[in-house]
Amino acid sequence: MRRKLVAGNWKMNGSLQANRILLEEVKSKLQVNNCEVVVCPPAPYLQQCQAILAGTAIGWGAQDISMHAAGAFTGEVSAEMLRDFDCSYVIVGHSERRSYHAEHDEQVAKKVVRALANRLTPIVCVGETLPHREAGMTAEIVSAQIEAVLGQISPEQVADIIVAYEPVWAIGTGKTATPEMAQEIHALLRRKIAEKNAGAAASVRILYGGSVKPDNAEELFFMPDIDGGLIGGASLKANEFLAIIHAV
Ligand code: G3P
Repeated sequence: MRRKLVAGNWKMNGSLQANRILLEEVKSKLQVNNCEVVVCPPAPYLQQCQAILAGTAIGWGAQDISMHAAGAFTGEVSAEMLRDFDCSYVIVGHSERRSYHAEHDEQVAKKVVRALANRLTPIVCVGETLPHREAGMTAEIVSAQIEAVLGQISPEQVADIIVAYEPVWAIGTGKTATPEMAQEIHALLRRKIAEKNAGAAASVRILYGGSVKPDNAEELFFMPDIDGGLIGGASLKANEFLAIIHAV
């Protein structure tokens, strides 16, 4: 019942020329299957994505938003601005924001609230570091991260979020969680969501992220609680991104 979703997080990569080549290739070679496809470029390229992707099956979104509505917040991009470029999604709480920009659970929750208030679907990232995993704290860490968000939204709004489980040690490292390891955490996240809204838990999509590649996508997406992927490096290469989408 949950439609799979594959989202590309370009991080701080791209150029007008490179983006055009990438998007045109993805657009022309995308085979229609039951998979929703989204790209999240750096904010300056949202208008370009809008121009290239409007009217196609590919959606677009941002990598972050401000928790504030507007005003003196130099360098920040508001949810309202993202709506101006017809964004449908926004990644919130990515581990790179949490670690390099000191974003904590409370800010992440405020950003989720801000996104929902502006009809943006937040892709809420959670995940443990390697020391946390080695200390046996994975369940505790991801539970606290998701509960911080669930605590700030209404039961009805739970149905409007997407969650991405991204073990920090698997991001950009070539080390992927095994499908079983990922499934265990996805099932835990779904139980947490069910505590807030049992009905919505069956429909909320939980993506896996962390070194997803064409050769491991299929086995990950096959797991019952893995509803697609949040793809970093492989989303910058049209053939790899397409192969991951077509693995659904
Ligand atoms: O948000 C996607 C992500 O952090 C995973 O990156 O390069 O390991 O696919 P990558």
